[in-house]
Amino acid sequence: MATIPAPIDATQTPEWKALADHAADLKANFTLKEAFASDPERVAKLSFDMDDLHFDLSKNLIDDKTVGLLADLARAVKLEERRDAMYAGEHINTTEDRAVLHTALRRPASDAGKFIVDGQDTVADVHEVLDRMYAFAERVRSGEWKGVSGKKIEHLVSIGIGGSDLGPVMVYEALKPMADTGIDCRYISNIDPNDAAEKLYGLDAETTLVIVVSKTFTTLETLTNAREVKAWMLEQLTAAGAIDGSKAQVADAIKKHFVAVSTNLELVAEFGIDPANAFGFWNWVGGRYSVDSAVGLSLIVVFGPKVFQQFLEGFHDLDMYFQNTPLEQNVVALMGLLNVWYVNFYGLGSHAVLPYNQYLHRFPAYLQQLTMESNGKSTRWDGTDVTCGTGEVFWGEPGTNGQHAFYQLIHQGTNVIPADFIAFVNTPNPAVDGDQDVHELFLGNFLAQTKALAFGKTADEVRAEGTAEWMIPARVFEGNRPTTSVFGVELTPHALGELIALYEHITFVEGTVWGLDSYDQWGVELGKQLAKQITPAFHDDEALSAQDASTKALIEYYRAHRK
Ligand code: F6P
Repeated sequence: MATIPAPIDATQTPEWKALADHAADLKANFTLKEAFASDPERVAKLSFDMDDLHFDLSKNLIDDKTVGLLADLARAVKLEERRDAMYAGEHINTTEDRAVLHTALRRPASDAGKFIVDGQDTVADVHEVLDRMYAFAERVRSGEWKGVSGKKIEHLVSIGIGGSDLGPVMVYEALKPMADTGIDCRYISNIDPNDAAEKLYGLDAETTLVIVVSKTFTTLETLTNAREVKAWMLEQLTAAGAIDGSKAQVADAIKKHFVAVSTNLELVAEFGIDPANAFGFWNWVGGRYSVDSAVGLSLIVVFGPKVFQQFLEGFHDLDMYFQNTPLEQNVVALMGLLNVWYVNFYGLGSHAVLPYNQYLHRFPAYLQQLTMESNGKSTRWDGTDVTCGTGEVFWGEPGTNGQHAFYQLIHQGTNVIPADFIAFVNTPNPAVDGDQDVHELFLGNFLAQTKALAFGKTADEVRAEGTAEWMIPARVFEGNRPTTSVFGVELTPHALGELIALYEHITFVEGTVWGLDSYDQWGVELGKQLAKQITPAFHDDEALSAQDASTKALIEYYRAHRK
């Protein structure tokens, strides 16, 4: 293998030093209130438009110089060169020696032949699988695809975990108003048997199609759940008289009720799934970057190929914007750089993502894997130690629910938490309460929160309301709490594609500054290995005696209480 080029150590560059000096200056002399008062152009200067999305960065802790300094840092670490290397299929996933080509998943078919990577015509292959998925989905949607007893499919069960679950679930929830055939989908991910039990509850096996989604097809949770659901399916079909339990009928039932999405087509066949009903992808698609690959099969069945195409176009449009927009105007790069600004120059280790849209209620959970599995690392892509803080904690809940839960801490806590607010001008469910447009009431909350966080409320303002002197500090809002507003026209498939690609690239920008391979996930391995070693200890004394004292005591507690 070729020598791995060492990352540029951002912390040793003059650009990093310039940002550190600048941050010290802003911490001593900058407030959002004064910045807005002294510069009527601030909002115009820090607002950006990208197709369906409008971005307001003006309520961040930055002044006229900051954007330029952050762009200089990006140039110092060769962000643009690395982005182009990623798009071109270079093996920037060094620890797995792989290309990182989720951007190829959304290139138009007309790009076939232009992106030959490691001998593979990536775009042609992507469209070959897409076309097969579209044809398959149309058969299911139209009712042509029948279960073993001749009934059309009304329910999907998608089994997967991590990247093979979080993306599809999030998008399924986000685009729900666009489901047009009455086919629904339930997603099973957790190995906790309660998950499968609850999701299978009340389902009619004869009208259910199961999609097993696993990049590797070796993941313990997914394979265990898949076997469990297979047993359930065969039992139900036998009980309903749809099959007689003979080998041939069992094989036929599996063929008609199970399909798979995987890079490991051999193991798919071993499971009994007809290879004709398996949809592949490639090792250059990371699990958490795969919702726009065959991993999104359930979405194509539920929403139809046209919606999925619009979704892919959204991703691609954002990819092109990120690639072709100069850094100072590139809001995607700037949002990533702003995160670096807060993590490394303000020491803020947490980042909230607050969708003011109920349909995006799983978006924060999806982002947790995308961002934290990508950048929660202490080693750089050449195996050396990181030289600064990395990987902030991403979390969130939809507004307004969050307002009544944790916003107290965001407004008045001792931890400052930068937050992205995401909202849309239009709603598919307009409602009125008397004369009040309820969507406007909702959006009023989004705007009120970002305003309160930025500008706060002074002691004098509190005093003027007649508050007792001793209680004034409790009611003061210091403000100066940074937020970014992402305001979209409407949560369309296209806008959703853009939104996901936005955070994929934000993650890439941060990882590049920190010198990380954002595309491996070695940190999940140890727990998997230990689980295999520990599980026998519930029954096996020898395995028990090999455990540490705490694990041993917990297993003894289990043994004493298991009914
Ligand atoms: O948790 C580790 C992980 O490898 C994720 O990166 C991945 O998304 C998930 O497991 C599921 O993997 P697979 O799709 O191979 O079942």
